[in-house]
Amino acid sequence: MPDELFDLKVGYTYFKNPIALAPMGGMTDSKFANQYAAEAGLVILGGYNLDSLTQKAASQMVARGREEFISENPMTLIEKEIRSIKNGNTVAVNVRSATIEPLVEAAAIIKDNGAIIELDAHCRQQEMIDIGAGQALVYDIPRLTEWIRRIKDTGAVLSVKIRGNVVESTALARAIESAGADILHLDAMKEGAGADLNLIKEIRDSTRMFLICNNSVTDADTAKEMFARGADMVSVARGILDDSGLISRLVADISATQKDIGWYNAPKHVCRGEGDLRGLAFCCLPVKSCPVHSNIKKLGITAQQFADIKMDFAKGTMLEYGDSTCFGSLVWCCKISKPCFLRDGVLETLGLSDTEYMRLKKELGDYIIEQASKSSHGPKNG
Ligand SMILES: Cc1cc2nc3c(=O)[nH]c(=O)nc-3n(C[C@H](O)[C@H](O)[C@H](O)COP(=O)(O)O)c2cc1C
Ligand code: SF4
Ligand code: SF4
Repeated sequence: MPDELFDLKVGYTYFKNPIALAPMGGMTDSKFANQYAAEAGLVILGGYNLDSLTQKAASQMVARGREEFISENPMTLIEKEIRSIKNGNTVAVNVRSATIEPLVEAAAIIKDNGAIIELDAHCRQQEMIDIGAGQALVYDIPRLTEWIRRIKDTGAVLSVKIRGNVVESTALARAIESAGADILHLDAMKEGAGADLNLIKEIRDSTRMFLICNNSVTDADTAKEMFARGADMVSVARGILDDSGLISRLVADISATQKDIGWYNAPKHVCRGEGDLRGLAFCCLPVKSCPVHSNIKKLGITAQQFADIKMDFAKGTMLEYGDSTCFGSLVWCCKISKPCFLRDGVLETLGLSDTEYMRLKKELGDYIIEQASKSSHGPKNG
């Protein structure tokens, strides 16, 4: 049964919340997921090695001490593992291959079991790269996009897992989206520096794909920094090894946020350069010199078009009201977390709750981006 608190759907799958278990080869099987990720909205099993080349590479990696899943019959194993997941989590299966045919075969099986196939374009172990699997795919975009098209032909929901800052990441994200992938799973790694939050914002502004982000999430605060830059979902891998209750706490925290404000991944204001383009929903009338203009420019529209889009959305909604606010309408008003007695007075008079106000702002953020892409050529970022 779909959870009413979040409205998270991709193709034939839905997520009960926006927290995921990220894949760790040799570790994240159904037993691991059932034990440590019972509450997760998504559990990603694998990575599984699908063809003889990746199986041989994995054996070499095991010989030097890494853990890997190796099976002579990976298709049967994958089906069994998906079916062994309890607790009603949606399942994704992270897979590696040096050839396309096993990916297509796996996609059909995974789809038949209601799960998501996740193409591993992330693994940077030399044995995998040498045979053209894992991260080697991001260096060869024509091959990567051809594989995405072939996998999508099966009708399976497809996630592509990449590491950021390996190649130009926004162009890569756009290529993956144009080829038809449904989900981008971004390891926002910045060498030696944990997660690259600015990269998440840039990727959010470059694609409408469902965006899963990770790297170095160890608590609710680090997850929230990703959500505020546009992550639709946050996944965790290593954090669970040190803290077995991590997923459970992240789910509890983000669920409380959703109940409180109605928009769990609300962006920051764009003023200080942290908010992604959805943050334009909180912007003032563009009458002064401030970062609203550079953000409007990214959308490829004029300040007048921006004002018209916002006013057009407001018409017939509660955001139309607010004579006593700075710009005469709630459509120009700030995020609910910014204290303001003028706005709150209007909300009280209208009987509009904080969550209803933020849900309208969420719709407004999406509307601005959609309308701008119709009247221009879409976001001009990256
Ligand atoms: C031991 C280990 C094995 C991993 N195996 C895979 C894998 O098979 N496929 C994949 O896409 N990512 C793999 N990853 C990457 C993780 O899914 C994740 O992107 C990365 O560890 C950053 O997230 P974290 O900081 O929460 O660990 C692996 C990571 C670790 C630590
Ligand atoms: S319009 Fe207002 S909210 Fe937007 S960047 Fe300028 S000052 Fe900040
Ligand atoms: S009235 Fe308050 S919430 Fe609205 S724009 Fe002015 S400061 Fe922001």
